[in-house]
Amino acid sequence: MKILKEAISEAGSKGTAIGHFNISDIAALEAIFQSARELNVPVIIGTSEGESKFIGLEQAAALIKSLRDGHDFPIFLNADHTHSLEKIKEAVDAGYDSVLFDGGKLPFEENIRQTKEVVDYVKSVNPNILVEGEIGYIGSSSEVLKEIPAGAALKAEDLTTPEQAKEFVEKTGVDLLAPAVGNIHGIIVQEGFVEKLDIERISAIKQAVNIPLVLHGGSGLSDEDFRAAIKAGINIVHINTEIRQAWRHGMEEGLKDNPDEIAPYKIYPASVEAIKKVVNQRLRIFSGI
Ligand code: G3H
Ligand code: ZN
Repeated sequence: MKILKEAISEAGSKGTAIGHFNISDIAALEAIFQSARELNVPVIIGTSEGESKFIGLEQAAALIKSLRDGHDFPIFLNADHTHSLEKIKEAVDAGYDSVLFDGGKLPFEENIRQTKEVVDYVKSVNPNILVEGEIGYIGSSSEVLKEIPAGAALKAEDLTTPEQAKEFVEKTGVDLLAPAVGNIHGIIVQEGFVEKLDIERISAIKQAVNIPLVLHGGSGLSDEDFRAAIKAGINIVHINTEIRQAWRHGMEEGLKDNPDEIAPYKIYPASVEAIKKVVNQRLRIFSGI
């Protein structure tokens, strides 16, 4: 079985990206796994600190391992948006394939210092666990938001520069980098706002660092932006809000269609189907299918 590093480099050499989808429960996991298997493409499951707290780090790791080993299928697990070395250590101990240390809100030098500490720790335990670093604050909620989160880096002067990215990668030794390139977490419904990526910036950053780039805040982006971003050097795309929306709509449908039902496994399938639809559409774009 391929390790995550190999799956990312294989996707990169084909000019495709791997989809990263967050889960809080087994319904979403089932939907994502089924979609990836139907399309026969690798997939990454993410749990943020909040999602990990609900599902359990060791439980998430055991579920992913059982799917990977039981079906001989490239499904991986990432500790998404982790804010402390202590939580990174817990994810490493649980058996995660990768960790994202999110120092995006820290001053640049402090972000470098703490990210390097995480890289040194993780690599001393297992060099195959990938470490992702993040530059710039791009909001933190995977929800539908009425306005742009305060302090989010969206203006050209606040986005990640190729020079910053190069310095960050050289000084920390991260395996993967998540830059701020016009992306934002959540779906923003503020009047007049359209989430739009700076594709030239992605190309310039890629040239400067030459390591896999990760695009966060995928929900709400256009298909054209995804395609152009992948062509410019994005290797992993994160989607969460759209999964959560589909989960909720599916649950509402499931409850409406079965008003007296109390067996969860008879209500959940509507949610699984709704999530599958989203994941299928996104994976097709990311994989060029
Ligand atoms: O890490 C998670 C993703 O960046 C999710 O972003 O909720 O905008 O899809 P999204
Ligand atoms: Zn994210």
